[in-house]
Amino acid sequence: MAEPKEKRTDAIQGEILHVYDGIEEADNELPTWWLWTFYGAIAFAVVYWFAYHELEALPLPSEEYAAALQAQAAGGEVSEELLTAMASNPDAVAAGNEIFQENCAVCHKERGEGNIGPNLTDPYWIHGGAPTDIYRTIHDGVLQAGMPAWGQTLGAEAVQKVTAFVLSIRDSNVPGKEPQGERWVPGGDADEAAADEAAADEAAADETAADEAAGDEAAADETAADEAAGDEAAADETATEEAGESN
Ligand code: HEC
Repeated sequence: MAEPKEKRTDAIQGEILHVYDGIEEADNELPTWWLWTFYGAIAFAVVYWFAYHELEALPLPSEEYAAALQAQAAGGEVSEELLTAMASNPDAVAAGNEIFQENCAVCHKERGEGNIGPNLTDPYWIHGGAPTDIYRTIHDGVLQAGMPAWGQTLGAEAVQKVTAFVLSIRDSNVPGKEPQGERWVPGGDADEAAADEAAADEAAADETAADEAAGDEAAADETAADEAAGDEAAADETATEEAGESN
């Protein structure tokens, strides 16, 4: 510590006490407003830490967000956002897995590879592979095809959890039942794409059904024609092409 050779008083800083490499240091009191801001910040940090992290008396922003989404869902609104968030939450997926093993494994097998019900791990979906599609299928069921409706039995929250589990195994491609339905690509706007292709796809499906039913062809063509709405020739052609591709 070098004492200044000559004590001098600076016009702005006041009395100069030390000089380090030509840098002069005075020792003035900190402004009151600055000190109180500083103490206030320390006090705030302590309160914040205890409230949010130690006592967990207040929810963290991410928890608040999850709770808000879930509150929405409890009112019957299920969003893709909520289901995707749940699918990446290990607790929700684990709870969904339990529900799945208890209620669904009979028909879809333990890992979802399919038995009486379709393989839930392949990229092909009869009723759509988007989170909200899967939720709807599980909630409402497909009664005429042997898939029970679970909304009433399990309640909305359990259906959300089991949907989260199904989403977690989606596209994991466990070998099992052969693919059924349409290929669904995550990220692609499935609903819109499905709507666009609906006429052609349905015609293709009808055509395949007709092949299999062997003789039911006329009815299938009629349905295809109805849906293609006058575009009969084009629809049939697309149908033949698509049926050829998917076989
Ligand atoms: C009694 C047998 C049975 C049980 C139990 C069952 N399912 Fe299904 N599930 C089916 C059948 C059959 C289908 C195919 C419906 C169709 O062909 O339209 C299906 C279809 C589905 C689909 C749609 C697949 C697709 O390709 O679009 C999902 C998702 C699904 N089930 C989930 C579940 C979940 C989750 C549970 C348990 C809460 C469950 N299922 C319980 C028989 C069952």
